[in-house]
Amino acid sequence: MIQTYIVKTAAGLESVLANELKDLGAAGIRELKRAVAFDGDTRMMYRANYELRTALRVLIPIHSFSAYNERDLYEGVREVDWSKYMTVKGTLAIDSIAHGDVFRHSHYVGLLTKDAIVDQFRDRTQRRPDVNIAAPTLRVNVHVQGTRVELAIDASGESLHRRNYRRDTVEAPLSEVLAAGMILLSGWHGQEPFVDPMCGSGTLAIEAAMMATGMPPQHKREGFGFFRWPDFDKKLWAEVKGEADDKIKQSLDIQIIASDIEGRARNSTTLNLLTAELEKVVHVEKMAFEKALPPGDVPGTLITNPPYDERLKVEDISAFYKGIGDRFKKCWPGWNAWLISSNRDALKHVGLRPSRRITLFNGALECSFQKFEMYEGKKFDGKLVEGVEEADKVDEGL
Ligand SMILES: C[S@@+](CC[C@H](N)C(=O)[O-])C[C@H]1O[C@@H](n2cnc3c(N)ncnc32)[C@H](O)[C@@H]1O
Repeated sequence: MIQTYIVKTAAGLESVLANELKDLGAAGIRELKRAVAFDGDTRMMYRANYELRTALRVLIPIHSFSAYNERDLYEGVREVDWSKYMTVKGTLAIDSIAHGDVFRHSHYVGLLTKDAIVDQFRDRTQRRPDVNIAAPTLRVNVHVQGTRVELAIDASGESLHRRNYRRDTVEAPLSEVLAAGMILLSGWHGQEPFVDPMCGSGTLAIEAAMMATGMPPQHKREGFGFFRWPDFDKKLWAEVKGEADDKIKQSLDIQIIASDIEGRARNSTTLNLLTAELEKVVHVEKMAFEKALPPGDVPGTLITNPPYDERLKVEDISAFYKGIGDRFKKCWPGWNAWLISSNRDALKHVGLRPSRRITLFNGALECSFQKFEMYEGKKFDGKLVEGVEEADKVDEGL
């Protein structure tokens, strides 16, 4: 049966997610705010959960109505026949979001929704289903915007940013979904080398390695919400997983390098790579960026998430970012280098003109993701002449 699905993502990644859905062959793709809708069958829903790198959750909208007060909300939720989605022996969790003047408290909206569902079961069966926040049979999503109430069921269960490879972290890790989105936005497709010289716990390098090997982002995950649904089609799921897993490459022709000045970060990245079973395709090193060099002669893509002087403090943040720019110019000719930072002032000290600036959110921090194209140096009389355009004025639009 074809139905509409809503895939949630992070702000700024809508177009990337829409492209991912296009590549999967989904129909009716519509970009929304922090989400993308598509039309598809159960196979496509299973694939969306397993294969989309920038998805946070896959939701199935089931009902919408207007509510001007608590009574309307309660009655509206009861208009759904909840026995279609679970039995009274199943368990329930509610995720709620409320915006606007009518319903101001998301938590209260969640409680009313839960009461309405539980009361419907109680009236019909004289029993009440239990609540289970962690692993419910049915996770219901209620979204209120003003007087508009949208009810959806959550096919993913735990958020899809949890890939189950993160065994260890150092300070300020990137969300896996944001890291994957940044790589896809950069246009890197696993054909040239990839470097993160300030890798922390390795999120960018691990996501890059997953993409280059074709490993589905949820390869290590143990379950999805839809596993607990009464209509879970085990055979179809096995087919979807098998088809995706068959495409995984065991080795790569390109180099993926993760390095960090801290030994603890190197260890954390190594452990996470081992958990992801990607330790053979990423080379990890303890090395200061000031000493790191491109691997080989073929230029590639460098993406890094330096300290912003927010959660990770830096003594002289302007000098630190200037040092990054100087190093790009001197040692990374031909490379596309990308930096993400919430510290726009520090980014100006990179001293190079960014060819792209994209606004993204790292948690609550509004960040600029900036591309610096290092022109191939030309050699005259054995001397490298840099083709990098020095920034005389890089603050426009920042
Ligand atoms: C914001 S964290 C990176 C987090 C990472 N993206 C993740 O997902 O875990 C910044 C990292 O830069 C590293 N770092 C700071 N100065 C450095 C330098 N000069 N050379 C290399 N790494 C550096 C820190 O040790 C830290 O691990």
